[in-house]
Amino acid sequence: MATAAIIVAAGRGTRAGGGLPKQFRPLAGRRVIDWTLDAFANVDHRVLVLASEDHDAWQIFGKTGLILAPGGADRAGSVRNGLDALAAVAPGKVLIHDAARPCVSQEVIASVIDALDHHDGAAPGLPVTDALWTGTKGLVTGTRDRSGLYAAQTPQGFRYDALYAAHKSHPGGAADDVQVARDAGLDVAIVPGHADNLKITTPEDFARAEHILRGQMDIRLGNGFDVHRFGEGDHVTLCGVAVPNGRGLQGHSDADVGMHAVTDAIFGALADGDIGQHFPPSDPQWKGAESHIFLRHAVSLAGERGYRITHVDVTMICERPKIGPHAQAMRAAMAEIMGLELGQVSVKATTSERLGFTGREEGIAAIATATLVKP
Ligand code: CTP
Ligand code: MG
Repeated sequence: MATAAIIVAAGRGTRAGGGLPKQFRPLAGRRVIDWTLDAFANVDHRVLVLASEDHDAWQIFGKTGLILAPGGADRAGSVRNGLDALAAVAPGKVLIHDAARPCVSQEVIASVIDALDHHDGAAPGLPVTDALWTGTKGLVTGTRDRSGLYAAQTPQGFRYDALYAAHKSHPGGAADDVQVARDAGLDVAIVPGHADNLKITTPEDFARAEHILRGQMDIRLGNGFDVHRFGEGDHVTLCGVAVPNGRGLQGHSDADVGMHAVTDAIFGALADGDIGQHFPPSDPQWKGAESHIFLRHAVSLAGERGYRITHVDVTMICERPKIGPHAQAMRAAMAEIMGLELGQVSVKATTSERLGFTGREEGIAAIATATLVKP
């Protein structure tokens, strides 16, 4: 049985303020409406109801595979127009959803659709948990029993034919589609709603919705920078690879300037000092140490703190040696040490156009970033 979703987005959002109607305002990197439409990406047909005056929105969404319908004088009118637009499609089930509820979960949508196998209608409700008062002029005038009371959410789902007929014969003034359906004698099941499925109504609701959509994810970028001076030697070690060179790099350890920059980028993302604090040059045990020891330590510290390294990028700045021929081996070596895929490790290089200490070939500099994510 085909399922369609009607997203009503023709309101003016007067209570939310802020110029543009709330459904077109930015939220967690996109527009509110983009989140809402995406939540219904898996239904067979999607209808978007837009106010006739929202010319830009008609332009933008006209280019997508959505069915567009014009808004009505009130929400019920907008729903009615959405139902009209589906007449040719005649889906078995239809879901009516507020564009202003971008945080709806797949679980809530699925439970509404499933309940329609046994009922004419189904909608998410949240049992009221706060005590309820009546009040006038800032004074409490009474209390109400909250038992059996629910806060109504959307999507509200129905058999399409039954809801369409109910809307056609309804005199108007219904609070929502559940009331329209019930007035026509349809049975409507309550499925569990979710507190996160808020309807953006006031300006404060944007921050709450943003928090829900971005989740608790902690994404960090750290940077690292290192320089080593040229000295005696016949090779340099860069990002774990020994590269033949007329001179070597001087340093307390193996002077792997690229790996040190990456290591410092990880410490930076963790806000936990730098390589010199973790492995003091004054400590003889680190003399001549291979730099993978430092990098492995930083990686395991990130893991202990619950972070996953998702990407590192390092740029070496030198005239010589040429890095290009060794870049793949360097990526592979670093990926192996950090337990990452090759596609998560970037190694590149640039000259400094013969300017400065790197241009005069006095040493090599490296700059790195690391991305760490805690879900
Ligand atoms: N809606 C609609 N057509 C209308 C009125 C409302 O499509 N004539 C939609 C809104 O775009 C919103 C949903 O119905 O997605 C719920 O309505 P509400 O939260 O009241 O939104 P607005 O009417 O836009 O806001 P306000 O009442 O603050 O002006
Ligand atoms: Mg309104």
